[in-house]
Amino acid sequence: MKLDDNKRDREKYPWWKRGVFYQIYPRSYKDSNGDGVGDLPGIESVLGYLNNGTEKSLGIDAIWFSPFFTSPDRDYGYDVSDYCAIDPRYGTLDDFKALLKSAHERNIRVLLDLVVNHSSDQHPWFVESRSSRNNPRRDWYIWKDGRQPGNKPPNNWRNHFFGSAWTWDEKTEQYYLHSFLKEQPDLNWHNSQVREAIADVIKYWLDLGVDGFRLDVPHVYCKDKQFRNNPPFYSLNRNIDFSLFKDRSFMSNLLKLLALPELQFKKYNQHQSETHSVLRGFRKVLDSYQDKVSVGEIIADSLPVIVSYYGRENDQLHMNFYFELLHCRWKAHAFRRCIQRWENALPEEAWPVYTFSNHDVNRAFSRYDQRGRGDKRARMLALMLLTLRGTPFIYYGEEIGMKEGLIQREQLKDPLGIKWYPFHRGRDGCRTPMQWDEGMFAGFSSHQPWLPLSPEHEIRNVRVQDEQSESLLNFFRQLIWLRKKLPLIVEGDYQTYKGRLPSGCYIYLRQQGDKKIAVALNFGKRKKKLEQLFNAGSVKLLISTCPTREPGVIAFPFTLKGEEGCLLELSP
Ligand code: NOJ
Repeated sequence: MKLDDNKRDREKYPWWKRGVFYQIYPRSYKDSNGDGVGDLPGIESVLGYLNNGTEKSLGIDAIWFSPFFTSPDRDYGYDVSDYCAIDPRYGTLDDFKALLKSAHERNIRVLLDLVVNHSSDQHPWFVESRSSRNNPRRDWYIWKDGRQPGNKPPNNWRNHFFGSAWTWDEKTEQYYLHSFLKEQPDLNWHNSQVREAIADVIKYWLDLGVDGFRLDVPHVYCKDKQFRNNPPFYSLNRNIDFSLFKDRSFMSNLLKLLALPELQFKKYNQHQSETHSVLRGFRKVLDSYQDKVSVGEIIADSLPVIVSYYGRENDQLHMNFYFELLHCRWKAHAFRRCIQRWENALPEEAWPVYTFSNHDVNRAFSRYDQRGRGDKRARMLALMLLTLRGTPFIYYGEEIGMKEGLIQREQLKDPLGIKWYPFHRGRDGCRTPMQWDEGMFAGFSSHQPWLPLSPEHEIRNVRVQDEQSESLLNFFRQLIWLRKKLPLIVEGDYQTYKGRLPSGCYIYLRQQGDKKIAVALNFGKRKKKLEQLFNAGSVKLLISTCPTREPGVIAFPFTLKGEEGCLLELSP
């Protein structure tokens, strides 16, 4: 390969397209000072687990950290009171610099969580803004008079956690807007000073060497300038793609159809066109540095709307999560269609991202753990995550099959769970401490952790699984390192296999030139016989989710076991 080809490939497939990402919820990863809360020095002490340059480590290329900035923790870090400071519970700025340096030495990039739709109500900007109607920062947030008669909230907008999106301020006698908790006032993105202040925050961290950002709810930034009322949930005027419904779980569909918890279609307080100009501005800042990246948490009922945040010629977000995949039913055709839809929706320059879990949803392991089948299914998810066309994001603990925590009412921390119990137990269950060993607090801390440990931590932990060659952890390691050796997994086209297949099976192909691999997945419980499928000279099994299956050349008919997935290499 000529030097020029190398450069062109690097540009076409920069590190964030090649890398495997890992999300850390810092409160729950590793506690170094025995207060039951995870911290930055703790994380630094276990970086070798994520990547020590050898196949004994996970081989992670980048970490996205959920927020560790100063915060009163009303929404556990997603209410920031100082965007440029580390909350003392997590450590100091020096601890962060040390962590960043160690990460970079291990070739691990670092992404921070940019939570700027709203700040904390304790942020000095909001403290000033609410101090008087003529404070210079008044317009940095969204203030409105009450509706008369009765001084009612200015319009019918509801926040995402339930209740009005407006809270009355006694002192200055106006309402302020908050899309989430009342302690999370929304910044006014129509104000150019706000845009500049946040651009400065971005530059501050980029100057320190951070590699990019995950953007919290960017689609909510700008609001309708006329503050029009949202239509009710049963309005026909909805831009919803109903074809998405057939592949989602029953519960996700129910919540969508009832538009819970807001009970209204958020027409005027999200997805406003001005937000695109904000994102273009962010992109310019990122592009004025080298090799920086952004990934957005855009949520919409229509794929073209999500795609629009990549921008024209990709001048907005580098990547966007695809949340449909987090709601998919355990059916071959549901996954097949769900992935194909995203592939079809993305223009060539838009790069996909896949994830199955995060700090807001039930852990994938438990979502699919019906009748104890979680272990097999977790391996199939891992295989998909690491072989689909796009950047994979692993959520901490996913690699050891951590289960959703069972949190009692009195132990709940998440404001959503506290509000909605017992209908919805909130998000604490997916935020329980990382399980390092079978010790008292799972090696996370020497002290009672801030949340209880999740079930089966005695076996679902790093130390135990490290020793078992057939563990989920070792399967993740093998897959990730295999991925690094097969550039085709990053660069190859994606195609759904269109030929006849036994029911319950889904096969996709990844192809680059004459190189081809196939991923064959059996979502059913029973074994399935695959007839000669591919027009290939020989087919080699590279890895199977079934630990007893030996790699090597295979012959057809080939029998996939129940809930087994295989990565196959096809040679001409
Ligand atoms: C989305 C975040 O993922 C979630 O955890 C948070 O509660 C809301 N945004 C509000 O910041």
